[in-house]
This record gives sequence, C-alpha cells and structure tokens, in this order.
Amino acid sequence: MQQPIAILDSGVGGLTVAKEVMRQLPREKIVYFGDTARTPYGPRPAGEVVRFTKEIVDYLIQYNPKMIVVACNTATAFALDDLKEMVSVPVVGVIDPGARAALSRTNTGVIGVIGTEGTVRSGAYEHALKQLSPHIHVISQACPAFVPLVEQGNFRSTETFHTVQQALGYLREYPLDCMILGCTHYPFLSESISEVMGPEVALISSAEETVREIRAILEGQGKLVSIEAEPMHRFFCSGEQQMFKQIATQWLGKQIELTPVVWQVS
Ligand code: SIN
Repeated sequence: MQQPIAILDSGVGGLTVAKEVMRQLPREKIVYFGDTARTPYGPRPAGEVVRFTKEIVDYLIQYNPKMIVVACNTATAFALDDLKEMVSVPVVGVIDPGARAALSRTNTGVIGVIGTEGTVRSGAYEHALKQLSPHIHVISQACPAFVPLVEQGNFRSTETFHTVQQALGYLREYPLDCMILGCTHYPFLSESISEVMGPEVALISSAEETVREIRAILEGQGKLVSIEAEPMHRFFCSGEQQMFKQIATQWLGKQIELTPVVWQVS
C-alpha cells in the first residue's frame, strides 16, 4: 500500500501546498484535511491552535502517512515542535522554507512579511529570517481580513481589492523588494496583492520551497514513490463541504474526492 503525504490546514489555504506537491511530485498520494469548521486559526490563542492541530494529526494518522505537512503558518508557528514529539514520521512546516525562499530573492535586504495575527505575533518569520541572515530588515503586517475572504471564495472582487489596499497600501513607502505571503491562504489573493504592491515587489509563497524540502526528506529516506500510477488523493474538511469542493476544484484544476467527516467542534 502506498503511504500518503498528509497535509493539514485551517481550511483551503493548504491547497496551495497540495497543488505544488501535485506539480513537483505527481506520483505522490495526498491525504488533505482542512479545518473549515474552525477557521480562521489566526485570531485564536496559541494553546487552542496546538490542540486543534494535534486533533487533526490524530485523525490523519489512521491513513498511515509517511510525512505530515503543516500547510498553515499559524499552526506551524505554534504547534510544529509539539507535533514533532507526537509522531514518528517527519513533520514539515511552511515558515523556514518561506524564509529561505525570500532570502534567495532579496537584493535590498528589506523583506515584508504578511500573515495572520497569530503568525505575526509569534515573530516566527522574523526569527527564521534573522537566524539565516542577522542583518536583514523585516517589516511585518497582520492581515486578519484576508482568510475569511478566501474561505468565502472571494478572490478577485472590488471588495477584495479594497481590503488588500487598505491593509497593505502603506507598505509601498518601504524599500521592500520581496514580500512573504506568510499564510497559505494568501496566494489566492496574489492578483490584488501584486496590484497593490507593484511589480517591483516579488511575492514569495512558501509552497514551492516547502515541497523541495518534502522531496529532499523523502529522497533521503528512500520513500519517494517509484511506480508510474496516477495517485488517488483524499480530501477531508470539518465544515461545510460545498464551498471547499468548489474552491479546491477551481484551484487544483480538477475534480476532487471529498469524503464527509463527522468532526466534534469544540
Ligand atoms: C488562518 O487560519 O488564520 C490562516 C492559516 C495560516 O496561517 O496559514
């Protein structure tokens, strides 16, 4: 039996990582869980995010994954270390890969980071960036209004553009040349974000670099799939199914199999 890569997020944001797994590692099977019943995680206390994330990992373990990917920045910031202690398979987050990707792009040494309140409050990106390059200048901004827009499938409306402009317009005053989309939901809004920030600011999504790390780990363990068969992915979400399915189909460009799950929301 082929072991899947388990990917979890507070909702649809982790689909940006799932899509990149499908692109870079097309033979790998994915089992995805989006906690749409309890999204967003960003405004929640750290302890609650840790508890929710552990519950999801507990659920996903029944599918015997060979790796857990925490495709949610807020959960990565608060729960990554606990999860590494909880399971025996590798656990990969999205913050270190995002920081590496931004450092390889910046020339000015001034990097913008946008994320949820939780991620920004944790200082996780600033820490990761300064560990890699102590003189880097980081400007962080929490964008609490973005995740609800994405979960409603509202990616390109005038309302979305105005919300993005209101949150990020002032950042144009800074000499940033790249900006980390420090929430896996934000690539859904990249059109508006790019329009507001201008073409000279490169938008960094951690998905690509995260999947490079996934590949390196699986390669090192001799666990990359070698057979040519098309993998059967499985998707679960804890809340309303229709919107998740609609967004997933649109983003991934294919129909998905969404299995209903009975989830105790507490
Ligand atoms: C959220 O649920 O608030 C966003 C998830 C993330 O931080 O990537």
